[in-house]
Amino acid sequence: MVFKLSLALVALSAAVSAANFRRVACPDGVNTAVNEACCVFHTLRDSLQANAFHKECGEEVHEVLRLTFHDAIGWSKSGAFAGGGADGSMILFDSIETAFDANAGIDESVDLLSPFMAQTGVSAGDLIQFAGAVGISNCPGAPKLSFLAGRPNATIPADKGTVPEPQQSVDAIFARMADANFSPAELVHLLASHTIARADHVDPTIPQSPFDTTPFTFDTQFFLETLLKGTGFPGTAGNLGEVESPLPTEGELRLQSDFAIARDPSTACEWQAQINNQQLMMSNFKAAMEKMALIGQDSSKFIDCSEAVPDPVAPNGKDATFPAGTGPADLEQACSSPFPTLQTDPGAATTIPKNPS
Ligand code: HEM
Repeated sequence: MVFKLSLALVALSAAVSAANFRRVACPDGVNTAVNEACCVFHTLRDSLQANAFHKECGEEVHEVLRLTFHDAIGWSKSGAFAGGGADGSMILFDSIETAFDANAGIDESVDLLSPFMAQTGVSAGDLIQFAGAVGISNCPGAPKLSFLAGRPNATIPADKGTVPEPQQSVDAIFARMADANFSPAELVHLLASHTIARADHVDPTIPQSPFDTTPFTFDTQFFLETLLKGTGFPGTAGNLGEVESPLPTEGELRLQSDFAIARDPSTACEWQAQINNQQLMMSNFKAAMEKMALIGQDSSKFIDCSEAVPDPVAPNGKDATFPAGTGPADLEQACSSPFPTLQTDPGAATTIPKNPS
């Protein structure tokens, strides 16, 4: 009796594992998938990597990551703004939404991604969030994001006013994020994105102005450098949403919002905690991004296609460092916890790369 029961259990567990590991051959003739519905994302990944991102953490990836936020945040719990969240409305209603000031420059990522929608038939919301997850996998140190497929196409555009702007007060930004169900700490986690970012429109006289010294590496430098005292502007003074940067001669630009959130009493310790803690920053960012990718969506029937997201390039293993010529004396520390002990880069100035290496 016991013997028969064990045999039955063995047979059952073999059947369950066979079902778990049975993969379907995808119509592209190249990929296999756990679920047929994920095949299209395997094909899409290969196409995005070959034709949009070129397997680099370059400008296209940065712009698409920004797009994941600007599309998803178009939703309001209070009903103050219309919008369906991560629903692709930025692509589907691009003539309306890309015209909002807060979306300056977003048209480039919309134009980059739109053809892939026609080629693969995936929804605009799925395309944006999937492309973000694939894109950042090219950035050393980025986490692997999960991807759930199933966002229906937007039927209405998001209202103007859902995307926070750098000249807004911290309170206004926190209030907007709270209206999308995000705490100030989660906003800090999302802002790790600014470690692979360069501004084109804040000071249009100096496009591609980085927010930290390593704009092609998903490291914690951004959190450190935003806490250094500002000494000047990399281009012209008086731009909306810009404050003095600690490295103006190297071309680094600082957003007023990043400056203020780094020093606000409610976020200063969360901000400081990311510095030189690559694993913490990665796991925080992953959780916040996965939540953001589902804003406004009922994901109960979504299909887990995370396996189509590539394994990211590993972190470079370097500790955070004070850029050359700066050090602990330049810190405007706003959290009373002890600050990590960090080295300073050698030389007269830290060179900021212009392209991914
Ligand atoms: C307080 C909230 C935020 C504000 C005020 C803000 C503001 C900005 C501004 C003004 C720029 C420069 C755009 C340009 O001139 O080209 C920028 C760039 C960028 N932002 Fe944000 N942002 C916020 C949050 C986020 C979040 C949550 C993400 C993603 C999860 C994100 C991702 C990016 C990326 C990747 C870039 C660089 C784009 C590029 O290099 O082309 N931002 N942000």
